[in-house]
Amino acid sequence: MMFLKQYVVDLLNNYRIGKHIKSDEYFKKTAELSVLENLKTPRRTFIINHLISFINAQNYLEIGVRNPTKNFDRIQCKNKFSVDPGIEFEDNPVDFKMTSDVFFENLKRDKLSIKSHIKFDVIFIDGLHVSNQVEKDILNSLEILNENGIIILHDCNPPSEFHQREQYDFMYSPARNFWNGTTWKAFYKFRHHKDLFSICFDSDWGVGLISKKQYPFFNNIKDEVQNGFYEFSVLNEFRKEHLNLFSFEDWVELR
Ligand SMILES: C[S@@+](CC[C@H](N)C(=O)[O-])C[C@H]1O[C@@H](n2cnc3c(N)ncnc32)[C@H](O)[C@@H]1O
Repeated sequence: MMFLKQYVVDLLNNYRIGKHIKSDEYFKKTAELSVLENLKTPRRTFIINHLISFINAQNYLEIGVRNPTKNFDRIQCKNKFSVDPGIEFEDNPVDFKMTSDVFFENLKRDKLSIKSHIKFDVIFIDGLHVSNQVEKDILNSLEILNENGIIILHDCNPPSEFHQREQYDFMYSPARNFWNGTTWKAFYKFRHHKDLFSICFDSDWGVGLISKKQYPFFNNIKDEVQNGFYEFSVLNEFRKEHLNLFSFEDWVELR
């Protein structure tokens, strides 16, 4: 009886929400942004492989792998290493089955099968997409990044405030299951670092790059923080300057 009652309540709720959504222009426009973003090319794998060849990278590290057939297995680099605690993909066939924090701590203490003095040329940060974790991942990655190395971050350019919601599990949002988290806030914060340079390719939800060396069209924000409260509306208005948003094709052609 209880089960039947809950079923009817759910059915009514779904009907009411569905009716509301159909008449909500904002909802429809925001949902369309997911479709447009998904059509953008090239995807992250192509960009990462291009950068590996551009700087002749030998050592690649991926933080947050999920199903490796989607990206990791397709990366062409001499030495590849992967880190993931296995939250989203049960098989989790990675080198280091642990969170990024534990990985970096163990690496520092020489407790891993790779030595603490190892340096990476390309580090792809795609683990837990919340700003304070991404900030930690960037700081730790900078310590093991070669001088001409590049840190790559997925999901730096959320198309709407719902795509950059803090919680993934809110499925009635117009972004539905698409989720960029708050990675952009960490990327934007590091854009203010005077000794680091960055760019964000306008493809595959924003592929952000951070480096110690200044590659063509990489820059940083010289003025004080312009979006001190990390408001999405400010990002949306100034995303080109605030992210140094660039078409990947233009970058390849112009650099
Ligand atoms: C977006 S998926 C990675 C997708 C993959 N890089 C790709 O390009 O297809 C995020 C992954 O991060 C992992 N993850 C979650 N929290 C993490 C953490 N603290 N450290 C490292 N990885 C984490 C999850 O288990 C999940 O597999």
